[in-house]
Amino acid sequence: MNIAVNAASIPAGASETGGDWRRYRFRAERECNKHMAKAKTLFYCSECGTETSKWQGQCPGCGQWNTLVEAPAAVSASGKRKAAVPAAQTVEPARMKDIAIGDERRLLTGIAELDRVLGGGIVAGSLVLVGGDPGIGKSTLLLQMCKQLSDKGEKVLYVSGEESLKQIKLRGDRIGEFSDSIYLLSETAITLIDAAIGRLQPKIVIVDSIQTMYEESVDAAPGSMSQVREITGILLRIAKSRGISIFIVGHVTKEGNVAGPRMLEHMVDTVLYFEGDASAAYRILRGVKNRFGSTNEIGVFEMKGKGLVEVPNPSEYMIQGKPVGESGSVVACAIEGSRSFMIEVQALVCHTYFNMPRRTAAGTDYNRVNLLIAVLEKRLGLRMSDSDAYVNVAGGMRITEPALDLAIIAALISSQSGKVMDEHTVLFGEVGLVGEVRAVPQCEKRVAEALKTGYRTCILPLANKLAIEKSGNLDLSGIRLVGIRNIREIVERKEWS
Ligand code: TYD
Ligand code: MG
Repeated sequence: MNIAVNAASIPAGASETGGDWRRYRFRAERECNKHMAKAKTLFYCSECGTETSKWQGQCPGCGQWNTLVEAPAAVSASGKRKAAVPAAQTVEPARMKDIAIGDERRLLTGIAELDRVLGGGIVAGSLVLVGGDPGIGKSTLLLQMCKQLSDKGEKVLYVSGEESLKQIKLRGDRIGEFSDSIYLLSETAITLIDAAIGRLQPKIVIVDSIQTMYEESVDAAPGSMSQVREITGILLRIAKSRGISIFIVGHVTKEGNVAGPRMLEHMVDTVLYFEGDASAAYRILRGVKNRFGSTNEIGVFEMKGKGLVEVPNPSEYMIQGKPVGESGSVVACAIEGSRSFMIEVQALVCHTYFNMPRRTAAGTDYNRVNLLIAVLEKRLGLRMSDSDAYVNVAGGMRITEPALDLAIIAALISSQSGKVMDEHTVLFGEVGLVGEVRAVPQCEKRVAEALKTGYRTCILPLANKLAIEKSGNLDLSGIRLVGIRNIREIVERKEWS
């Protein structure tokens, strides 16, 4: 009976030549296997991590051009592609109101600038990516964090794939004395690290850096897209299943390297970027993504001989070297995240020796500076076409908010005319193409900061001045507000000398 059924399923013409049919089947299987072997490499988008089987000029995920790079697919030892999470047999949705949160107290790191950027301390079981250029101070910051936490008695594990134990200890010696509850591991194999975490049961783990770690079963070099994805997946599982908070260090290169941490941003809970000019002493820690707090917070640090030092009052720090009685230098009030601070804006306008005058903008947007120069030329009749113009936000900080426009305009006017702005005056406001001075957000905060830092005059958009006076929240006895509507008014101000 069975034989008869099998014979019926054999294609017509094959029944007499049973051997042929079997050969046909084996050939088909071989072809199929060959095809599977070929499909081992995939294309990943270096911006968003989307994977495709074929190369395309434009990423189907994020729409960016030329971002797809070829990389081996993550495969297990048995040759099958791995599923990130084992499929559960049954799943039961829970009512939102029945979910108990419990005592979700955050762990304070003891570094106030870092705690603020994290959204008020470390959340248990969270995965935090700390990105930044090499040499900016990521390892130093995290080692300092480990010191603070271990001083409180928390068990901390610092895994480095870049430095030997001695090298970490040497760096640690510059920072200070370490307690008994900090453990070091110099290792790059993630399976060994996973096992070590299992034995030690630490509360916090630092993985420095993701680019040096590898998983044996993935057939790609450390730092490649597939390795980075795989390792992050493993760390994610460790963090969520054991409630350990893991900090991942990721180097970002200027070229936007293949396994750039940009791709990891989707997988982790919090993304912090450590920025700054490597030549300038201070660094800014910026929250880019945070599932447990507000983004756009910043923390300011200064790199010193004994590691990073917090800068709780950036205003004083930023303007401490400002020259007095010199033209081409004015003070503006900028906002980054939730913090306001004073910043010095400098300009240098001088006769050009080129056919095309040179323009540069350091610490601010180049195109914006060009636009403001054009506004000056057209609306104030200032001849700029035969002058080079250099604009610099002093101190190495990068500010691109339009509220800086008025200060850039004032600095350019000051340098061109040689007039000096009164040293107790601060400016902020956006400048439009018609030369109008437009209102900017958070004006009260800016004026409050100017008051706190000891400024006596504030030149600001008229609409902002009226809003501040109407709300009555600020004690304005210590400061004079000068509301202006057009940049023409700034030239006539009596604050110039
Ligand atoms: P590091 O933390 O190694 O940077 P990253 O991990 O981001 O690559 O910091 C490197 C720089 O910091 C290095 O150039 C030396 C400087 N540094 C100090 O100036 N003072 C210090 O106390 C330490 C530890 C480092
Ligand atoms: Mg490092």
